[in-house]
Amino acid sequence: MQDYDLVIRGGTVATASDAFRADIAVTGGRIVALGERLGRGAREIVAEGRLILPGGIDSHCHIEEPPVGEVENADSFETATASAAAGGTTTVISFVQQAKGSGITAGLRDYQRKAARALVDYSFHLVVTDASEAVLAELPPLIAEGHRSLKIFMTYPNLVLDDDHILRVLALARQTGALVTVHAENHAAIMYLTRALEAAGLTRPRHHAWAKPMAVEREACHRIIMLAELLDVPIQIFHVSGAEAAEEIRRAQQRGLRVFGETCPQYLMLTADDLDRPGFEGAKFLCSPAPRTPEDQVALWDHLRLGTLGIVSSDHAPNRFDDRHGKKVRGEDAPFSAIPNGVPGLATRLPVLFSEGVGKGRIDLATFVALTATNPARLFGLAPRKGTIAIGADADLAIWDPGRKVTIRNAMLHHGVDYTVYEGLEVTGWPVTTLSRGVVVSDEDRVTGRPGHGRFLARGPYEAIRPRNRHVTPFDAVEGRLSGAAPAGAGAKG
Ligand code: URP
Ligand code: ZN
Ligand code: ZN
Repeated sequence: MQDYDLVIRGGTVATASDAFRADIAVTGGRIVALGERLGRGAREIVAEGRLILPGGIDSHCHIEEPPVGEVENADSFETATASAAAGGTTTVISFVQQAKGSGITAGLRDYQRKAARALVDYSFHLVVTDASEAVLAELPPLIAEGHRSLKIFMTYPNLVLDDDHILRVLALARQTGALVTVHAENHAAIMYLTRALEAAGLTRPRHHAWAKPMAVEREACHRIIMLAELLDVPIQIFHVSGAEAAEEIRRAQQRGLRVFGETCPQYLMLTADDLDRPGFEGAKFLCSPAPRTPEDQVALWDHLRLGTLGIVSSDHAPNRFDDRHGKKVRGEDAPFSAIPNGVPGLATRLPVLFSEGVGKGRIDLATFVALTATNPARLFGLAPRKGTIAIGADADLAIWDPGRKVTIRNAMLHHGVDYTVYEGLEVTGWPVTTLSRGVVVSDEDRVTGRPGHGRFLARGPYEAIRPRNRHVTPFDAVEGRLSGAAPAGAGAKG
């Protein structure tokens, strides 16, 4: 007679606060007991000498998005989530795109059909590319259905929102209870610099970083923080690339604003020099914002420790390299502005951060768990079901061999992309077995999960997006909630 479906025995359980030796018992896909010498499981996994971490939550991945012109997203939900599982990640949040000028719902329904092939659990951010009356009317039922985060872009020709439309989205988020996530770069400045550089013949991949210097990111961070402050709504700024942008976020946090920051391994590992590799190689490393300097990397580690940046996601952008539907869509002599942006990273996010962060003493293990699982679960409304190891939580677990040395090769990553920016990098520490709701989905680099196992995670209203009204804003007057006090910064009584 077995007491549990599964018992994982003798490992060191690590959470965002503690690490302790315990057996983990799982029944019905959930953790039902943590303790010493637990009873028998129908299946047992011996985890002596291993760390057991909450499965990673990757809250920023581009998966199976519709083609943009001739550029095709190289990952299906099947390949992307196989890659996630192999890298210790058990939940992904990807993007439903609104084609500018049309609605969101039809695209969402189509995307849900594709996501049904996922090997691990998933949720979506809704990308708003124009805040027309029709789109704003479409959103509240979709948010109520469980899509509690919106994504807006402050740059890219087909995606950019101006400040007026940004304010409309922020107001809707405040009224409906959704988190707005932001790609923050100054569009006009980028377009101007791009035209000027290309007219001067400065068109190689390295010039991408010249067209997108830190100042354009810093300004956009400052502006989106101001816009969110006017309405007193929380925001998350995606892929912070260096010191100046992080400092904007830190200042906002010190002023009591709910501004959350994310960075990605590429900004901790790459610099603008990588864009200058010989031939067209630099295109592999081309992403937005652009990789910066070694000093920026040091600053980002500082801000991870300080908590300014609370999440490390992959920003997995699966553009193949040697492919006319990927980085080479316009050939190797194309100007940098024609090269698809982004780097793949679903499988490598955790091992690279573990090795470079925990292994090299830059962050401790609890911070690693917080950055990769617990914080994204809390910020995106997946806690307490996801992101920690606790009784009642889903048994989403990554069993790590903390001493295993692995040289990263693209062939071991299970994604649909033909390269990794970490080819040849030796890491110490590797997720050897990954479980999603108690089911082994990856074991010793073999993906064992099956398409369709992954479930959609609907997100209800949650703590991080609860209206707070700490600051009296002009919007309180609009909503008829001002009782004599003038809005913050407005001077005289209203
Ligand atoms: O370069 C990047 N980051 N590409 C993916 C799309 C985005 O901006 O997040
Ligand atoms: Zn972005
Ligand atoms: Zn992205």
